[in-house]
Order: sequence, then C-alpha cells, then structure tokens
Amino acid sequence: MTAGERLKPEELRSHRYLGPDDLRSFGHRSRQKQAGFSTEDFAGKPVIGILNTWNDLISCHAHFRQRAEDIKRGVWQAGGFPVEIPVMGLSETFMKPTSMYYRNFLAMEAEEVLRTYPIDAAVLMGGCDKTTPALLMGALSANVPSIVMPGGPMNRTSWHGEQLASGTDVWRFWAERGAGRLSCESWCDLEDYIAASPGHCMTMGTASTMTALAEVLGMTLAGASSLPATHSGHARMAAETGRAAVELAWRNRRPTDLLNRSAFENAITTLMALGGSTNAIVHLMAMAGRAGVALTLEDFDRISQRTPVLANLRPTGTWVMADFFDAGGLCALLNQIGDLLHLDASTVQFQTLGEAIAGAQVWNEDVIRRRDNPVCATGSLAVLRGNLAPDGCVIKPAAAQAALLQHRGPAVVFQNYPDLKARIDDPALALTPDHVIVLQNAGPLGAPGIPEWGMLPIPKYLLQQGVRDMVRISDARMSGTSYGACVLHVSPESFVGGPLALVRTGDMIRLDVVGRTLTLEISDEEFAARKSQWVAPAPAFTRGYGKLYAEQTTQAHEGCDFRFLHADGSHDPPPAIY
Ligand code: FES
Repeated sequence: MTAGERLKPEELRSHRYLGPDDLRSFGHRSRQKQAGFSTEDFAGKPVIGILNTWNDLISCHAHFRQRAEDIKRGVWQAGGFPVEIPVMGLSETFMKPTSMYYRNFLAMEAEEVLRTYPIDAAVLMGGCDKTTPALLMGALSANVPSIVMPGGPMNRTSWHGEQLASGTDVWRFWAERGAGRLSCESWCDLEDYIAASPGHCMTMGTASTMTALAEVLGMTLAGASSLPATHSGHARMAAETGRAAVELAWRNRRPTDLLNRSAFENAITTLMALGGSTNAIVHLMAMAGRAGVALTLEDFDRISQRTPVLANLRPTGTWVMADFFDAGGLCALLNQIGDLLHLDASTVQFQTLGEAIAGAQVWNEDVIRRRDNPVCATGSLAVLRGNLAPDGCVIKPAAAQAALLQHRGPAVVFQNYPDLKARIDDPALALTPDHVIVLQNAGPLGAPGIPEWGMLPIPKYLLQQGVRDMVRISDARMSGTSYGACVLHVSPESFVGGPLALVRTGDMIRLDVVGRTLTLEISDEEFAARKSQWVAPAPAFTRGYGKLYAEQTTQAHEGCDFRFLHADGSHDPPPAIY
C-alpha cells in the first residue's frame, strides 16, 4: 500500500471470517452473537485484538484489566471491534527457573494467536521485563499491524525518609543485611514499601528499558513509555492506543514496515543514552533475528562508544522513572541526541521519529542531562572478547566501580548456582577483593534459561569489611536493576563446552574493559588439555517444552531465540480459512 492508502472493509483480514455468505462465516457471526454482540457491532469494522498479559501473579500488571477496558473504549470510539485475548503473563518475580525461559513461549503464543484469529491489528499489553520483547517478537513474525501499550512504571516510594528503587534497593539492602547493618525487622518492614503501586520496576531496569525501546522503535504512541502506571494520563494513553490501532488496521501498517536496520540502530543508541539494561542486548538481537536485520554485538559496542549516557536514573544514576517522566520523559531525552538518531524512521502514528519528538523539552537538567554534562561521556555498555569469551560477553561499566574495569586476579570457581549458594560465605575460601568470582552453567541451556544470577553475591565477610564490588564472571544475565563489575552473557556458555567451563580455581583472569578483552591466563597446551577432558553434562529435560528449548535455543550473542523462529527472508502468511 502507498502512504495514506486505506483498505476497503472487504479487504480487511477479518472480513474473510465475518463477511462472506457461507457456512464458516455463519458460524463466526452466530458465535459473536452468542457473546451478546449485534451485527452492527462488528460488521465491516476492523477487529482489534488486545493481547493482555495480566494474571494474579504478575503484580506489575495489576492495572491491566482496567487498562484493557480503556483500550476497548478507544477502539469503539474509532469504529473498531475490540476483542481481548489473555496470553501468558511472564512474571519476573515468580517464574522459575526464570521468566526468560518462557520469553520464546509467549512469543510463539502471540504469533499464533495473531495468525489464527480474525485480527486486523493488535494492541500488545506489555511491561514486566520479558513481556515487551516477547510480544514484539511474536508480532514481528505474524506481521500483523501492532502497537505496544506500555504498562508504565510504579509510583515513587520512600522508606525511613529515603527514596526507594524497586529491584536495585533490594540488592543493596540485602548486602547491608549481609554486612550486619540492617536488622531482620527492618528487612521485613521494607517488604511493605519496595513496590508500592501497580506498574513495572521504577528504575531504568529491563522493563523501563524495553518499553522505551519499543517507543523509539516506533511501536508505541509518542511519550507512552514514560507515563507512570497510575497516572490518569496512562488510562487516556490506553484509549488513544486503541484508537491508533484502528487506524493501523485500516492502513495495514505492519511491524516489518517499521522495524528495519535504522530502527534497531535508534534502539541501540537509546539504550546507551538511557544507561539501560544489559538484557536489552539479548532481546534486541532476538527481535532483529525475527525482522531479518543482521545485528552483531559489535553494533552495540560501536554505538556505545559514540553515545553519552544522559538519563541520570538508577541503577546507573540517582533518580527513578517518575522523575524521568516529570523531567520530560523519553521524548525529551531523544531530542537531546537527535544528531545520533535516524530521525526519518517511521512510527505507528504515521509520523517520523523526528516529528514525534519535535519540541519535547527537558524540565530537570539533573534527571535528563545536557550533552555537555552527561552522566558518562560514552560507554554505557561494553562488549568484550578473548579466549574466555570467543563469541563475546558484556559488562555495564557505568554501573561498576571504575577501579575494577582493568583488573587481574585469581579465579574462584563455582560449578553451578547451588554450589555458589552453598559455599560463597565459607571463610575457608579466604576470598579477597582481588579475587574474580566465576559461576559456570548459568547460561541459556545450563541453568536453563540464562537467569539473572550474574550479580554474583559478595561473601558476607567481605561485605562486613566494606567491600561492595568485585569482578564477577558468568554466562548468566543480570537484572537491569542490578549493578557492579559483572561480566555477563559469556558465549559460548559453559554448559556446551565454552571456555568458561575450563576455568579452575586459582587460574589468573585479566579483565580489560578499555581494551575490550577478557583473558584466561593459561597456556594454549593447558587449554587444549582441559578441553579434551571436558564431559558434556546431561540435558536437564528429555521431553516437553524443556526438550524443545534445549534443542532450539541459540546462545546469548544470538539472542537466545529458537532457531526455527528466526526470519528466513519471508513471513508466513495467515492460514486460509477452510
Ligand atoms: Fe516486573 Fe521488575 S518485577 S518489572
């Protein structure tokens, strides 16, 4: 279709289900009437599927049932027919071994829901970490016109006079408790305050990062990702998103019309300017794989080296998302870095990105910094390689102690997470701040699901000495709310025989973030000897989803998507109706 061209009602995808005078369409219409709708409610209208990731265990989405009603209001207003479809809610806190294990599951569910039902456009209700990338991956593969409704961050909250940051302060206060500086009673009291409203984590963690990236990718309304979940504007934004979905359906603008290489480069630039989550690297790689865009880890490192961190948000900086919203939100930040963006990229509002952010002002120059006063000049995230990570690994220098970014020290190795939990506080290990803590078998297949274990715990006896950061290396991820000199996503992972599996306690490891290297200092002969002795572990699952996951999941540097879901240059058409 050319710009501005609109479908006729009989050209809508849903018309093939609801329009013709035939046996199948009779069934479809009669069953809508069974649900209480009249012909006038749906005839000749775009069907808008509202994919709702609400459930009782995903508390970040506690407001989603009302927001679905707000979206429906907008759809009705614009002359569409809304249908709400529950899909798997990926609860970051409750799902074990990790919600990441099910990201591809939700992506498949979203894709197939969009493919099988008579949906002309979709509203994707995402927020808690993995929901946003999963829904976008599914929408990309189904390639049905789609718009994201971001869940919005939690309210500000404080405790004992101190502003809290969900996630980030959990790690911080846990360390204080380990150091003996926080009582058991205070720790329990904190439970009542750390997450005090609906909405996703209010730091620049993975949820805030991914909804912001959805916005800069052009997949939300302008300004939508910064709106706090309980702000009245959030309900209005939901209704406007419903109205926008109807227009998307009529103009048949599909995800692949928006998500090209320029859009992904905009997302990476924004990730760096936000000081966003390392998890976004894995998710963007997976989304790009669905779109058929060839991203590499070097794209992230290259863009990181030219992009200043301007968002002074925790865990990298000082403030939380409500402050970011008050300071002007994402649009104001993007306006500061317009010269680094492809401003001609398109959005779901049939604007360019440049038009979407035009005129957005910064109202607090400590929260959203000016270019001449950044939080960090460059280098929010860094990609390292070396004999310990031939396919790459990542670190977030902006959230680490600067003195540790060039470090050489002896390894202490834990074979898996239970081993780490059992022994990390054992004084017999006699760890010093110079040690390098190594965790094996925590990657995509090893854990499985590449959990957020990468902010490895510091021994209590070192916490009590005041140590708050050490070099830590794993094939795990870490929460976007976490911090520290944590080398993550080591690829290939140890479970498949990557070099991380060959590290032994006492080996010297050299981390050089400036030189972008991670080196295990053993000879080539010793390296080869250990490799020849390595024995592959038994698979964790022999049936069901776990078996599919084990057979199909790619490594971290490829996005951990299922191989068979990568784009192959085409997108499967919806099935014919029989
Ligand atoms: Fe849902 Fe942090 S737990 S976003």
